[in-house]
Amino acid sequence: MVTAVATETDTQLQASAQTGEIAIRQVKKSFIQPTGEPIVALSQVDTVIKPGEFVSLIGPSGCGKSTLLRLIAGLLTSDEGTLELDGKTIREPSYERGLVFQDPTLFPWLTVEDNVAFGLKARGVYKTKKAEVAKFIGLVGLEGFGKSYPHQLSGGMAQRASLARALVNEPKVLLLDEPLGALDAFTRMNMQDELIRIWRERGTTMVMVTHDVDEAIYLSDRILVMTTRPARIETSIQVELARPRARGNPDFMQLRSRILDILDFAGKVDEPAYYL
Ligand SMILES: Nc1ncnc2c1ncn2[C@@H]1O[C@H](COP(=O)(O)OP(=O)(O)OP(=O)(O)O)[C@@H](O)[C@H]1O
Ligand SMILES: [Mg+2]
Repeated sequence: MVTAVATETDTQLQASAQTGEIAIRQVKKSFIQPTGEPIVALSQVDTVIKPGEFVSLIGPSGCGKSTLLRLIAGLLTSDEGTLELDGKTIREPSYERGLVFQDPTLFPWLTVEDNVAFGLKARGVYKTKKAEVAKFIGLVGLEGFGKSYPHQLSGGMAQRASLARALVNEPKVLLLDEPLGALDAFTRMNMQDELIRIWRERGTTMVMVTHDVDEAIYLSDRILVMTTRPARIETSIQVELARPRARGNPDFMQLRSRILDILDFAGKVDEPAYYL
C-alpha cells in the first residue's frame, strides 16, 4: 500500500516536473519614486530555476525580492533582460503562475469553496473541473470548512485556503511571498510540512520569499541570497540535506550560520558601488 502510493507520487512528480522552468536573464528593474527620483530595485539578476525545483529568495528588507516575484508573476515588466517560463517570454499574469501573499487575500464575501472556485470560474472551466474544488480543499487540510467565510477561519486556515485557491488552477509555478510570515511558530512549522507535502505531490516549481533562514533551509533545494538594493544574487546555495530535514542537525546549523554570515555581508554592501 505504502509502496504503491510512493510510486504514484514519484510518477506524478516526474510527469509534472518536465515543465515549470523559469529563466531569469540579466534582469534590471527600476521605479520612479514619488519624489520623481528613479530607484533601481534589481540589477543583473540572472538564474535558471529548474522544473520542480524549490527555490527560496532571502535578502535584506527592501532589496527587491517581491519585485522579482512580481516580475515572474507578470505583474511588472523588466527594464532590461528577459524572464521566461518554459522558453516563453513572461508578459502578463497567468494562471500558470500562481501567487500567494503573506496576508491571505481571500474575498471576504465568498465562502472558502467559492474563493477556491474563483479561478476556475474566471477561466470558464468550472463546469468540467467542479470536483477539483473539494479535492484541493482536502489537499490543504480544510475539509469540512468549504462553507465557511474567511472571517470564520484562523490565520493558518485562511493561508491554506489561499494556497488551495492558487493550486486549483494547477499552476506550473507557485510564487510565494512570505506566505507563512504572519503565522505563529507552531502553525508555521505545520504549514512548512504542508508545503513540502504539496510540492512533492504536485511537482510544482516553487519560488518562495522568506526572511526566515531556517525556513529557507528546511524547505528549499536552493537558496538565493540577494544583496541590498539594487539587488542581485549574491550567492546561490544548493541545500544538499536529506529530507525530512531536522532543524537541530549539525549540518543544518552549519548551513544556517553560513547563510547568516553571507546575509550580514550582503546587507552591508555599500549601495553606491553598484551604480558604478
Ligand atoms: N511600485 C513601486 N513604486 C516605487 N517603488 C517601488 C515600487 N515597488 C517597489 N518599490 C521599491 O523597490 C524596492 C524593492 O521593493 P520590494 O518590495 O521588492 O522589496 P523586498 O525585498 O520585497 O522587501 P521586504 O523584505 O521588506 O518585503 C524598495 O525600495 C521599494 O520602495
Ligand atoms: Mg517583499
